[in-house]
Amino acid sequence: MASLTVRKLDEALKASLRLRAAQNGRSVEDEVRMILREAAERPAAASVPRAPETKAATRSTRTHAAADRPRLTLIIGGGIAAYKALDLIRRLKDRGIHVRCVMTRAAQQFVTPLTAGALADERCYTDLFDAQSEFDAGHIRLARDTDLIVVAPATADLMAKMAQGHADDLATAILLATNRPVLLAPAMNPLMWINAATRRNVAQLARDGAHFIGPNSGEMAEANEAGVGRMSEPLEIAAAADALLRPPPARSLSGKRILITAGPTHEPIDPVRYIANRSSGKQGFAIAASAAAAGADVTLISGPVDLDDPAGVHVIHVESARDMLAQVEAALPADIAIFAAAVADWRVANAGEQKIKKTSGGMPQLALVENPDILATVSKLRQNRPALVIGFAAETENLIENATSKLKRKGCDWIVANDVSPSTGIMGGDRNTVHVLTLDNGNVAVDSWPVMTKEDVAEALVAKIAATRA
Ligand code: CTP
Repeated sequence: MASLTVRKLDEALKASLRLRAAQNGRSVEDEVRMILREAAERPAAASVPRAPETKAATRSTRTHAAADRPRLTLIIGGGIAAYKALDLIRRLKDRGIHVRCVMTRAAQQFVTPLTAGALADERCYTDLFDAQSEFDAGHIRLARDTDLIVVAPATADLMAKMAQGHADDLATAILLATNRPVLLAPAMNPLMWINAATRRNVAQLARDGAHFIGPNSGEMAEANEAGVGRMSEPLEIAAAADALLRPPPARSLSGKRILITAGPTHEPIDPVRYIANRSSGKQGFAIAASAAAAGADVTLISGPVDLDDPAGVHVIHVESARDMLAQVEAALPADIAIFAAAVADWRVANAGEQKIKKTSGGMPQLALVENPDILATVSKLRQNRPALVIGFAAETENLIENATSKLKRKGCDWIVANDVSPSTGIMGGDRNTVHVLTLDNGNVAVDSWPVMTKEDVAEALVAKIAATRA
């Protein structure tokens, strides 16, 4: 196919593409390829019902709509840590946050407004009386035209002025005129941090409602000095800012016990070899994290994966299908069970106690026996059956047809079907295109969602569960 050169994209679209690419860890060219592929794979618009309106879905749309992005004003104070504020701009933008910079006069001794403006994609403001500013009464507009103000580094002097209500430069005037939340990232010499005057100012600012991140303890820029006073790392500040900008999700599943399986299973051939599959476990882990964030009491039973345990989730690690079934049964009763694991259908009938050796007698014959079907076992329980049982159907052909027969055969209530043909990149990848099949009075309804990140699929699924269970 001929290569494609796209010209004359407007600046806002270019910025949005760069941001999307950065968030997905891809080059802009790869991101554009991915967008084209998703568009080509998407069924005609008329036949695709919209994904449920969830915070995740709106957040991912936000990625593209600059006007909807949370807005943050970053005030850079005059300390050696000002150089880290430049990295902070990038970290905030990676999170889809629009950043506008303001610099004090002292900050300009360490970094230039030009650099901050280039990184933020918007001019950096420095003067209280600025003839070039597009804002009338600039400090008032700058103080209000934002969702959060972050001061990094927050120097001892800047915090002292804030605590006293000074407004003799643009930064302090904005801080006095704002009615938005303020996050301070202090940075100073340890002796300045423990000085009684700084202690008083910090206590006053906390009483006035300011939020703090850091300072951390560690080496100072000055030779042979260490202690508490180092500015928090840009990643930490960006996470704290994000938490203030985006309120935690509604606890729509609080009080519910949810059981989730995830990942592949490993079926031993002998002590060193096993049969496995390509499942990464990412989708099941994302569902566990979303359900926990929605307030559920989550038990996640996972096969071998290379993922960190999600925070706030009780995780049980297993190897084989039979181990997984035993742990699922031990974890019952539950209100909701979600079987996202790619359980191996077969295991070796007579796995070797010792490593199977090569012999001149030829290759060993591996006899396979069928593994228990965990989803079907739980769906058909007479006692302790969860009120909602959700299975997954990973298919490489006839997706809806195969998923429908799986839904009926296994006796579950919903099936989340996805096409895992190698060309989709879903197995092991970060995105998923799913169809949720629900069984209602013998009728199957299909809800087809657009391509989303696995996290967004998880949030949308949790929202659908919460809406159904309400
Ligand atoms: N499943 C299970 N235990 C098994 C096999 C599958 O719990 N031994 C569950 C999976 O977790 C998933 C659903 O059943 O929720 C469907 O899994 P899938 O691998 O798509 O289907 P299979 O039953 O293995 O059928 P096939 O391999 O023929 O597609």
